[in-house]
Amino acid sequence: MRYPGFDDYMKAVQQPDVFTADELRRLELVVHPVFGIPSPASGTSAVVFKATEAGEAGALRFFTRADAGNGRRYTALHDHFVTRDLLGVVALPRWIDDGIRVNGRTWPVVRMQWVEGHTLTRHVDDLVSRQDTAALARLAVTWRELVDRLQRADFAHGDLQHGNVLVDEHGTMRLVDFDCSWIAAFASSAPPSETGHRNYQLANRPWGRWMDTFPGLVVYLSLVALARNPERGALSTGENLLLAQQDFRPPFDTPAWSFLSSLRDSRVDELADRLKRCCSPGWTATGGLDYLLAPSVAPWWERTPTVVPGTAPTEVPAPRVPLVVPVPPPAEPRNEGAPTAVWWKEQTAPVPPARRRPGTPAVVAVASLLGAVTGLLSLAVDFDAPGGPIAVALGVVVFGVVVLVGLLKGA
Ligand SMILES: Nc1ncnc2c1ncn2[C@@H]1O[C@H](COP(=O)(O)OP(=O)(O)O)[C@@H](O)[C@H]1O
Ligand SMILES: [Mg+2]
Repeated sequence: MRYPGFDDYMKAVQQPDVFTADELRRLELVVHPVFGIPSPASGTSAVVFKATEAGEAGALRFFTRADAGNGRRYTALHDHFVTRDLLGVVALPRWIDDGIRVNGRTWPVVRMQWVEGHTLTRHVDDLVSRQDTAALARLAVTWRELVDRLQRADFAHGDLQHGNVLVDEHGTMRLVDFDCSWIAAFASSAPPSETGHRNYQLANRPWGRWMDTFPGLVVYLSLVALARNPERGALSTGENLLLAQQDFRPPFDTPAWSFLSSLRDSRVDELADRLKRCCSPGWTATGGLDYLLAPSVAPWWERTPTVVPGTAPTEVPAPRVPLVVPVPPPAEPRNEGAPTAVWWKEQTAPVPPARRRPGTPAVVAVASLLGAVTGLLSLAVDFDAPGGPIAVALGVVVFGVVVLVGLLKGA
């Protein structure tokens, strides 16, 4: 089944009675002020038109690929966004089966809120051309807060990239395009065929809860670096912000890495170092961006200074890639709350106090008791015997001496 393409939808929406769903018939498509025809936006999987109903703007998204989305997933996502309070950061989507008739059959439509603003690329391009480093720095903060909010709400977008983030004039960000998103309800489903934009993802990234951590860091590092120096020159291709696919592979000697190190900024260096580590073979995210960037994330072998008694701590550069990494605990969701400590920094079980051997006073007390018992037994055996009083006296004396010695030693 071949889905209609951009031109098919373009022609169709200009015909009368093209919508087959009642709620869509009431809509009025917004047309270009000069050309008088709709001017949709599009990406790799869909064409998006602006339409109004009673003056309120909405978006209509038509699929151009068969495997991009389905009603069950979009309905579950809609409910998740509502219940997890994500309405401020996403364009709430609603799936409509059989919404439009094109090429002799009906097709689904996703109806969404219209998001005013530009794509993140366009917004960053504007700030860069105006050299507005303060706004770029604010955008970096907003970005981190956004990713954190998504991850705390147990949602992963799956394709965080410049075209799926819309930014308004106040710098507020909102996400669109949830074709490869993840929520816990999908955990046992097969991954979607889309794997995210290549300039924001590692090759073969696993689909799941923490897949936004890597692109989250790519965007964050890019914005922090551009806020330090917006002169990125040819590093921007229109398909990225600063970094791209070729930068995610060792030995990290591309122009983008040279640009980053030329900034000589400790925060940029720190983030760049973190990103390089994420690019090492076999790395996959096991937590959120906030967890990855928490100050406590530096492992102990990088925090322990070498201290020779009587001297100041020596500045020994920590090994960047440890040869032996402590074995992490069993995998479990790690971003449930604010990051506290990482597994290699977590408290080890408290060392139990050394078992105390019975003290001298205890031994003496037992011996004293034995002395007393000895005396009493000698009386019981033969009280009238000529040696009886001697035995009693001996027992009492032994008892007394032992108690005295015990008291002296215990003190
Ligand atoms: N709700 C919306 N409001 C405003 N613009 C939107 C909305 N949804 C999508 N767009 C625009 O349409 C473009 C393509 O939409 P998207 O859903 O990302 O499709 P694709 O899957 O093809 O990338 C986006 O980059 C954005 O510019
Ligand atoms: Mg998109």
